[in-house]
Amino acid sequence: MLILAIESSCDETSCAVVEDGRNVLSNITATQLDEHSLYGGVVPELASRLHCECISSVCESALSAAGVGKKDIDAIAVTFAPGLVGALLVGVNFAKGFALGANKPLIPVHHIKGHIASNYIAHKSLSPPYLAMVVSGGHTQIMKVDDYTRFTTIGRTIDDAAGEAFDKAARAMGLAYPGGIHIEKAALNGDSKKYKLPFPKTANKYDFSFSGLKTATLNLIHNAKQKKVELDIPSLAASFQHTVCEILSEKFVNAAREHGYKTLALSGGVAANSLLREKIAAHGLEFYYPPLSLCGDNAAMIGCQGYYEYLNGTVGDMTLNAVANQQL
Ligand code: KG4
Ligand code: ZN
Repeated sequence: MLILAIESSCDETSCAVVEDGRNVLSNITATQLDEHSLYGGVVPELASRLHCECISSVCESALSAAGVGKKDIDAIAVTFAPGLVGALLVGVNFAKGFALGANKPLIPVHHIKGHIASNYIAHKSLSPPYLAMVVSGGHTQIMKVDDYTRFTTIGRTIDDAAGEAFDKAARAMGLAYPGGIHIEKAALNGDSKKYKLPFPKTANKYDFSFSGLKTATLNLIHNAKQKKVELDIPSLAASFQHTVCEILSEKFVNAAREHGYKTLALSGGVAANSLLREKIAAHGLEFYYPPLSLCGDNAAMIGCQGYYEYLNGTVGDMTLNAVANQQL
């Protein structure tokens, strides 16, 4: 089965052609990073306009890179939630038009389920049940993957997502957007023990809270500025990264042990972080994470999840709408 997949929930316009769920024939992404980095973060209105400008050509490129024509496509999968509503609407309406014109099924896909599916593309032997953690710019949550389309959330952030915390802390440190990769690079020359940052407490032990850590980092920077003390930015980056990765890995591994899981899968933009991968891997459990190309937003993961949704009987119709907030 050939699925044309579309992802436009934030600042990447991506189209992919995926065969039988796990075989990616093409995965083309147009990033808006340069346009948004001028403003230090994603500007929603700009994101929608840029998606409109390039979605047709990205789709054409995905079809031609896969060596297939429109008539070869069996179904269209699209991210419908969660995300920036104006950005989602571009992909959803494009997919509806394609499905209507080609008279093929339309498959709505939840973005977080897509991130989870990115590991199926990279690791052909991975199958449920296992414990997943999705860590991105908008989400941080731990889920039992009961089946390809059934999930039970056991912890999530109660305020900022981990990626968002990386981005805000990086900005305060004078590092470029998006912050995660720049904090990781700066941290290479720093001492992670130099600055002590707080480990937040949450009522549910598998929930996360990153706003206190972000505020503590901002306060440290403001105090140093007021006292005209020069900060060691590489060490602050290293301390911040160490703290976030310690929180994430500890909760993920503890949740796996207490719920009896031996297999773990990490995904989302922050899964690109080497220290986070190392800290989880150090516990000796069976541990999967996607290649860098599938950590960030991409349509291949939507095509993969779309396949399993379709097998499970999920199809949309022309009333499909974009939904900004929808928890898993
Ligand atoms: O999954 P993603 O591309 O978009 C969302 O669905 O949010 O994740 C983007 C997030 C950004 O916050 C970015 O700073 C973070 O992933 N990120 C990283 C790294 N690379 C990207 N965070 C930490 N370390 C990295 N190497
Ligand atoms: Zn994402």
